[in-house]
This record gives sequence, structure tokens and C-alpha cells, in this order.
Amino acid sequence: MRRVGILTVSDRGSQGAYEDRSGPLAAEIIQEATGWLVERREVIPDEISVIAGTLRKWCDAGLDLILTSGGTGFAPRDVTPEATRAVIEREAPGIAEALRAESLRVTRHAMLSRAVAGMRGGTLIINLPGNPKAVRENLDVLLPVLPHALDLLTGQPESGQDHRAV
Ligand code: MTE
Repeated sequence: MRRVGILTVSDRGSQGAYEDRSGPLAAEIIQEATGWLVERREVIPDEISVIAGTLRKWCDAGLDLILTSGGTGFAPRDVTPEATRAVIEREAPGIAEALRAESLRVTRHAMLSRAVAGMRGGTLIINLPGNPKAVRENLDVLLPVLPHALDLLTGQPESGQDHRAV
């Protein structure tokens, strides 16, 4: 079974000033669609060192997939893409391109996402926007492709399924 971490990046969420709805929603969608284990979930502030440190720690723990939520826009404190770039060894631009392209069909504001995706060792890291509705829309795009992506990355098919027809 694949092991997943979901990292919500939000100053206000980390201070308890508002309830994180995106993290729990992403966990629920992933678990329902794939049966994978959401092993870690945290809400942290928009600080590059904290974001990058958490990503490194979770990669070292051997997670297969880390989804971040929030901090990808234009606000001065939005630094999730910079922290992700500092951590990944190989970029997966097609994932970010697909998420923006599909999201543009829903809202023109999708072009304001600076999200990146990439790999560190055997872990795939993908930035998602912070809004719960946006999280759902992005996961709709990602979910059909994620099993094959992780099979390729880990060199091991999880289920022996052939995903080429998806
Ligand atoms: N993508 C989808 N699918 N749906 C959305 O509502 N919102 C956009 C964009 N991507 C949105 C979306 C908006 S308004 C912003 S500012 C950027 O994501 C960045 O969001 P973030 O700063 O919460 O990460």
C-alpha cells in the first residue's frame, strides 16, 4: 500500500486562527479513491525553512507521495514552490502544467498558481492550491495518473495493474 503525507501550508491555519479544511479533504479523497494510507498530516506556517524541513523529513521517512496545499500564489508569504524546488532532485513539469491547464477551464485565476511538482528519491511531491474546492478539482485531474506515476518512480507496480489504457 502506498504511503502518503498531506502538508497544509498556512500561517493562519498553523496558528489555529482558522480550521484547515483542505488537508482533511485531500486525505479523504485520496483514501477513498485509492485505499492508500495517509500516514502524516500537518499544518505548518508559510516559512521556507519549515516547509523544506518537513518535506525532507517526510521523504527520509520513505513516503511515496506528498501533497502540499496552499502557499502557491502571489502573496508575499506564498513560498511553497520555492521550498519544494529546494528539496526536489528532479522536476515533473507535466504534472504542474496539466493541473494549471485543466484548472484554467474552471477559473482564469488558475494562472496565478505557481505550483511545482517533482521527485526526491522515491517520493513524489506535488503542490496543490489552498482552497478546498481547488484541491478537489486538482485531485480529479491527478488521481487517474498517480498510480502509474508511483509505479514508475518506485520501479514496482503496486498492484500489477497495467495503467496504460487509463
Ligand atoms: N485551481 C483550481 N482548480 N480551482 C481554483 O479555484 N484557485 C486559484 C489557483 N488555482 C483555483 C486554482 C487561485 S485563486 C490562486 S491564487 C492559486 O491557485 C494559488 O492558490 P494558493 O495561494 O492557495 O496556493
